[in-house]
Amino acid sequence: MQIKAINFFPYFKSSSGLIVRRALNPLAADTVSFKSKSLPIITPEKAYKLLEENTYKSYNGTTAYEIPIKIGSAQYIARRLDGGGTKTVYEIEHNNEKVAIALANSPERWKNVLNEPQYTREIREAGLLTNDCCGIVPVEVDGKTFPALRMKPYNEHNFRIFDCKNPSDRISKDEGICDFENLTTEQACDMLNDFIDDVNKMLKNNIDIGSDSINLALTKDGKFRLYINDLPFEKSPVNTLRVKNMQDEEKMKLGRFYLERAFYALGFAIDKDIYYHSGFFTDEENKNKLIELMASKLEI
Ligand SMILES: Nc1ncnc2c1ncn2[C@@H]1O[C@H](COP(=O)(O)OP(=O)(O)OP(=O)(O)O)[C@@H](O)[C@H]1O
Ligand SMILES: [Mg+2]
Repeated sequence: MQIKAINFFPYFKSSSGLIVRRALNPLAADTVSFKSKSLPIITPEKAYKLLEENTYKSYNGTTAYEIPIKIGSAQYIARRLDGGGTKTVYEIEHNNEKVAIALANSPERWKNVLNEPQYTREIREAGLLTNDCCGIVPVEVDGKTFPALRMKPYNEHNFRIFDCKNPSDRISKDEGICDFENLTTEQACDMLNDFIDDVNKMLKNNIDIGSDSINLALTKDGKFRLYINDLPFEKSPVNTLRVKNMQDEEKMKLGRFYLERAFYALGFAIDKDIYYHSGFFTDEENKNKLIELMASKLEI
């Protein structure tokens, strides 16, 4: 399908600084042309170079619901999935595949995101769940090219992802995963058994990440696992998530921190009504007991 006569930049900046969408041909969203076979991945070095170009300095980010973008010679209508302080995540369709594209909200912090492909590789190599295809692609918005993150959209994974910061999926009571309203710490510990195994992999590989990156996945065979995304920018100059010479005491502290996040992640993943009815996840004592129980399974 070819884009015929759409205004490629139907956006303008309102007086409040927001990017506003002009009236767009309603058919335009369906008239995307896929010319390239695959998205062109670039190295972080090339991405840094792109960021240093003057054109980028005038880019103020975008949070618009829909924007026209170009990757190579192909044009796409990108639809906003969600966003945070650093990125706005869009979805495009490329070669009949859905692709998530994260654009920068602010140029200053964007350099810090460029290590995400390297970090996700480290996480994957440690046997943990993370984004399948994180890479940097040059994306043209409003006539300027800058690096963006290409990822697999959450919905395209073969497991469910419960993003702790912006939960868009929730476990409902009808799914019968467990009787959350009468949950005991022993049952919660059993349920999180594979998450604990993942924490052991994190510790074995000396991987130190913050709470923003820790999410929950539910696999097709009903296992709760750790899902890692949005890797920390403060680590950028180090270029690795692995900490050298971590002492056992520090490892235990880190392990308990990850396990505490598991408690919150599970609470966030369930429907709000079950959450409040159950009361399990609002009880500090349950949390402490569960962490103790889970920590006894840490291999340090
Ligand atoms: N691959 C993806 N597929 C679908 N949605 C995604 C994907 N990656 C991120 N998102 C959504 O976009 C949101 C923002 O992404 P992310 O957390 O990486 O950005 P951020 O700017 O660092 O956010 P924050 O400021 O909250 O840390 C996520 O909370 C999630 O809802
Ligand atoms: Mg973040």
